[in-house]
Amino acid sequence: MKKRFRAAALALSATLMLGALAGCGNSSAADQREIIRIGHNQSTNHPTHLALVAFEEFIESKLGDKYDVEVFPSELLGSQNEMVQLTQTGAINFCVASNSLLETFSDNYTLFNLPYLFASSEAYHASMDDEAITGPIFESTKQAGFEAVTWLDAGTRNFYTVDKPIETPADLKGLKIRVQQSPTNVQMMSLLGGSATPMGFGDVYTALQSKIIDGAENNEMALTDNGHGDVCKYYSYDMHQMIPDILIGNIAFLDGLSEEERAVFDEGFELVNQVQREEWVTAVENAKDRAENEQGVHFIYPDTAPFQVACAPMHDAMLEQYPDLKPIYDAIQAYNKQYPSTES
Ligand code: GCU
Repeated sequence: MKKRFRAAALALSATLMLGALAGCGNSSAADQREIIRIGHNQSTNHPTHLALVAFEEFIESKLGDKYDVEVFPSELLGSQNEMVQLTQTGAINFCVASNSLLETFSDNYTLFNLPYLFASSEAYHASMDDEAITGPIFESTKQAGFEAVTWLDAGTRNFYTVDKPIETPADLKGLKIRVQQSPTNVQMMSLLGGSATPMGFGDVYTALQSKIIDGAENNEMALTDNGHGDVCKYYSYDMHQMIPDILIGNIAFLDGLSEEERAVFDEGFELVNQVQREEWVTAVENAKDRAENEQGVHFIYPDTAPFQVACAPMHDAMLEQYPDLKPIYDAIQAYNKQYPSTES
């Protein structure tokens, strides 16, 4: 009840905010097009934003007489958690959410949050491109009011700290590390020996700067695009997770599209995936280069085995708790065999 009330309150405040935003924009009274609102929490330089702008251009080139797509970056519509709730209620049409957060909306998403689930980025990409793997998971939130329409690459998550190099799990002991707001991440952190401090992405920079936390974990873009590398000087490639970002859409909106429109949107979702993944490769290379040379971040390459051993019990525990996910887990293991780790 409390949750529903909060969602409704959020929807209301967003509607008001969006009304205000529309008032500031240049849409004329004669413009009868339906506005499609897409929210995300990255900057306008980020591959995710570039991909969504490509989506906006594509949809408007095909269905521009009917739809006006607007992309809201940088948590303008709220934190990721809030945006998921706005998408659920239909206050906005789409948002990008980390798979981490989605496990609180459907247990099935827990699978992709497991540490060391994928042996290599090739195995990760092949799994996420396989609809037999993603389909049952992506559709499992329909009852909750939204559906996943495509996935986005968010690289590999690694630990980084203000001033303590992480070479082994023992180095995490006593450190307060920000994790995403998901039970899996909290459990992972406790198995690795650190103290999990869950919070929204937008709060991390201030928490690092004011020493509320000692470090965080994320891909390399967080160092540069979010400025975390201005504060954290050690980034350690323990490679604990490859967690995709997911583009989710309000189910009533998606179901309301005609068959022809849905076909255009589906093409647009594929475009988002394609553009984002292309942009991602160079964005990560550039981020690493900038972090090393301009921010003075030291990159560390620890032996990942002790980190993997510490997290290993989570796999069996998840399969025991959600036995329905076993066939999907096994299909991922087949890709892991086909594309094993290249770590020396
Ligand atoms: C990455 C990911 C985001 C997520 C963030 C986080 O940047 O792409 O979707 O919100 O990590 O750690 O919260």
